[in-house]
Amino acid sequence: MTLISGTAVAEKVLEECRRDIAALAALGRKPGLAVVLIGDDPASRAYVRSKDKKCRDLGLHSVKLELPATTTQDELLAHVRALNNDPAIHGILVQSPPPKHIDEAAIVRAIDPAKDVDGFHPVNVAKLALEDPTGFVPCTPLGCQRLLIDAGIETNGAHAVIVGRSMIVGKPMALLLMAKGKGGDATVTVTHSRTRDLASITRTADIIIAAIGRPHFIRAEHVKDGAVVIDVGINRIDDLTSEKGYKLVGDVAFDEVAPKCRAITPVPGGVGPMTIAMLMANTIKACR
Ligand code: GUN
Repeated sequence: MTLISGTAVAEKVLEECRRDIAALAALGRKPGLAVVLIGDDPASRAYVRSKDKKCRDLGLHSVKLELPATTTQDELLAHVRALNNDPAIHGILVQSPPPKHIDEAAIVRAIDPAKDVDGFHPVNVAKLALEDPTGFVPCTPLGCQRLLIDAGIETNGAHAVIVGRSMIVGKPMALLLMAKGKGGDATVTVTHSRTRDLASITRTADIIIAAIGRPHFIRAEHVKDGAVVIDVGINRIDDLTSEKGYKLVGDVAFDEVAPKCRAITPVPGGVGPMTIAMLMANTIKACR
């Protein structure tokens, strides 16, 4: 069994980013990312803080907008428009999920597609479906694909089963894996919370992408011997032995699944660091 280290592959991606940033600096250009957080959800706050920190470590221009939970739709739209018009900002990310009174789809549509480094705007969703490389691909599935490529996992002709149909991971992951070319050409099945007899489908998978957002959901019975498992889950569960009172676990019951696998990603240290690295890469692409 091979443990696929997201930390190590992310470091490789960040090294490529440093090269690109130096090349842009020689032209007098500096990529800039704005991350917008509305409200004070602790997990979202932690993600936003790490995105901002990574930008600063790399020497990117970083703007972190922390808005109160009471921010109105119109106020948020005004912030997005200002960022659209700011020439020092090349990428805009509004952390999801926003508070309930915010119409997230309308906010996403207000972001300039050329600055939509999350790849959530309908123009970028369409470009992914059309295999148009000028669009932005959502960072988490892009990171999963890069992990498979770097680990030497052949996707061409493989059966990839995605568990979860979210706009952030499941759907774009399916489009990436079925696209033509490197890291693609897979036969893709998308399953979700309503799928009947899930295990009978996942057991036919050469590659499982677990992105359902439920701790330890994928068990040994879901996985055939020799499968590759990519665990996208980052779930907080109570852990009284830890200082924080919680620990992070994936969507996969790692201890019982790992012995059956050809390769598997850990949580933490798997997909998580890749998401941030791909966000940096997308911001550089937006600047270019
Ligand atoms: N919330 C969880 N993942 C993401 C992501 O990739 N982008 C944004 N904007 N919000 C998220």
